[in-house]
Amino acid sequence: MESWRRYPAREYSLQDTLNKMRSDWDARARENARYYVNTETEDWTDEAFFASGERTVAEEIRTDMTNICQGREPKQMKVLEIGCGAGRVTRALANLFGEVHAVDVSGEMIAQAGRALESHPHAHVYQNNGMDLAVVPGGDFDFAFSTIVFQHIPSREVIESYVREVARLLRPGALFKFQVQGDTSVNSAENDTWLGVAFSDDDVVAMAERCGFEPRYRHGAGEQYFWLWFFKK
Ligand SMILES: C[S@@+](CC[C@H](N)C(=O)[O-])C[C@H]1O[C@@H](n2cnc3c(N)ncnc32)[C@H](O)[C@@H]1O
Repeated sequence: MESWRRYPAREYSLQDTLNKMRSDWDARARENARYYVNTETEDWTDEAFFASGERTVAEEIRTDMTNICQGREPKQMKVLEIGCGAGRVTRALANLFGEVHAVDVSGEMIAQAGRALESHPHAHVYQNNGMDLAVVPGGDFDFAFSTIVFQHIPSREVIESYVREVARLLRPGALFKFQVQGDTSVNSAENDTWLGVAFSDDDVVAMAERCGFEPRYRHGAGEQYFWLWFFKK
């Protein structure tokens, strides 16, 4: 048999997947952005929604300042976030760090994030194309972060593109701390924008190597919340 016949044909192009991520997340944002960002409740008050972002930052960032800041003052640091949604975590990042830049594929989410950050002029949000960081000005970022975003992306190509792009924007030695779906027993459909592709420990180590990172720490392999600490070489 010819080798290509052994693989199922891809039904969707990369552009189809990018279009679907944008339209599905725009629809979710129009329906109830804060619920789809954090499904704990359908009825978030401002106060509770932003407190949940502070909790994420307390748990994932304030407990890990040695790896993240590496001796720098947080207020002197420039930070990048991928998949900012309605600004839940972005606002908490802006309460801690000196400058924050965040992207999201959904214009509807970005509109909500912009409103959430009106009182934080050092936080900047951009709608992007769903796979690169060309819209983010400058470079030399000191830290990059992403949570509950890659677990929704159905394409390895898209996720690896982001990892390569973050490597382009971080200063050498800086950390990209992020979470992917680690439960490889759950199979996502090719264009499912809710249940993304899963990564094994071997997958993430190989991806780090290809993209110019040292995958120094990993926590939660095999689980939904598979956290990765990639240090830019
Ligand atoms: C569950 S929400 C989480 C938002 C935010 N990280 C938080 O924790 O509050 C997932 C977000 O990822 C965004 N997203 C999904 N696919 C994306 C992609 N390919 N590029 C950028 N953002 C994406 C969605 O628009 C949505 O705002």
